[in-house]
Amino acid sequence: MAKIVLGVTSSVSLYKACEVLRGFQKAGHEVQVIMTRNAAKLVSPLLFNSLSGHRTIIELFDEDHPWSVAHIALAKEAALLVVAPATANIIAKFAAGVADDFLSTFYLAVGAPVLIAPAMNEAMFLHPQTRDNVTRLRRRGVEFVEPAKGHLACGDEGWGRLAEPDEIVRRGLELLKEKVSLAGRTVLVTAGPTREYLDPVRYLSNRSSGKMGYEVAREALLRGARVILVSGPTHEIPPAGAELIRADAAAEMEREVLKRFPKSDIVVMAAAVADFSFAARADRKIKKQALPEDLKLVPTRDILKTLGERKKGQFLVGFAAETDDVKANALKKIKSKRLDLIVANDVSKQGLGFDADDNQALLIDARGRVTDAPRMSKRELSRVIWDAIEASLGSKR
Ligand SMILES: Cc1cc2nc3c(=O)[nH]c(=O)nc-3n(C[C@H](O)[C@H](O)[C@H](O)COP(=O)(O)O)c2cc1C
Repeated sequence: MAKIVLGVTSSVSLYKACEVLRGFQKAGHEVQVIMTRNAAKLVSPLLFNSLSGHRTIIELFDEDHPWSVAHIALAKEAALLVVAPATANIIAKFAAGVADDFLSTFYLAVGAPVLIAPAMNEAMFLHPQTRDNVTRLRRRGVEFVEPAKGHLACGDEGWGRLAEPDEIVRRGLELLKEKVSLAGRTVLVTAGPTREYLDPVRYLSNRSSGKMGYEVAREALLRGARVILVSGPTHEIPPAGAELIRADAAAEMEREVLKRFPKSDIVVMAAAVADFSFAARADRKIKKQALPEDLKLVPTRDILKTLGERKKGQFLVGFAAETDDVKANALKKIKSKRLDLIVANDVSKQGLGFDADDNQALLIDARGRVTDAPRMSKRELSRVIWDAIEASLGSKR
């Protein structure tokens, strides 16, 4: 049994929220309702109190809350936040990070998956501002149950009618299942660039931002895995709940990864590990006048290849950043490094791949099955990657 938080906002279609609540209860879950103040003007919270068996939360500053800081306490317990119906207003507040009532504050605090079922007049739904807000939230991983076309409460016909309660409950239950699909597994993710030092202040590195690996780690956490994130230097904020290990140079990353490899079930090597390091590293800063004419580079050890040679049942995922012949190069790499899956992306395109928010990739598994992931945010791509890993794991069993 999971605790599902149901956000109810002020659309006339909120009467359907009762059926959504019932649907989750029938599936064996506990439901806590949060209403906006405006929603409570349309119907009494008593209706939801009696259906849910819990006092409906409306106010942020409420002396009667059983918990001291209720939105944080509830955020820790919640397995899923479903907002049905969601007004244009709450979608805009979520997208902008406004936290001026209980529901919007709770949204910022909750780490669980979020599902939004919008309901509004067609003009409001199709307004460019609302479209932008929905896109922004989707890019952050929020899921939507699209409204249907039909007769609207305002008397108009068109898009904006709240999806059927059954559909909302079905999608919500799917998200809950995704959350536990990696329970009991240890996932090791590497992310970011490495730095190969010439002396204590100068280094050779690459343009990797760490965004992709951090999203892969975040998604694994959402799906219930224990996550170890071995990260090169990045400015990304690590996902809460991951065990974070910092590694600077390729050799250090190799050491940290190899140490943890035997106890890992799935390894995703998203880090852009340097292929070369300096043949010699000076202990002190090299003086300008003393800079050598030639700087000799030597290849670093290939961590992914070592993992491929040593693997005993681990599922190994590699990344290939290519500028040409993406598919052919990826196929070569999957064989030569004994990978179970490769995520190959073309880093020659502007605004994609390195240091960008978006990515586009080909996913190829050991059987040669190809998934083409068109341009999407790294948050969304991390889902596609985990779906592919889970599909391959399923067919391996
Ligand atoms: C009777 C009535 C029905 C409404 N229905 C909707 C609706 O379906 N969708 C919507 O986005 N706004 C609707 N509104 C407007 C919202 O209630 C309004 O934007 C409000 O400020 C949203 O507050 P909330 O998001 O905190 O609930 C409706 C307003 C009224 C008076």
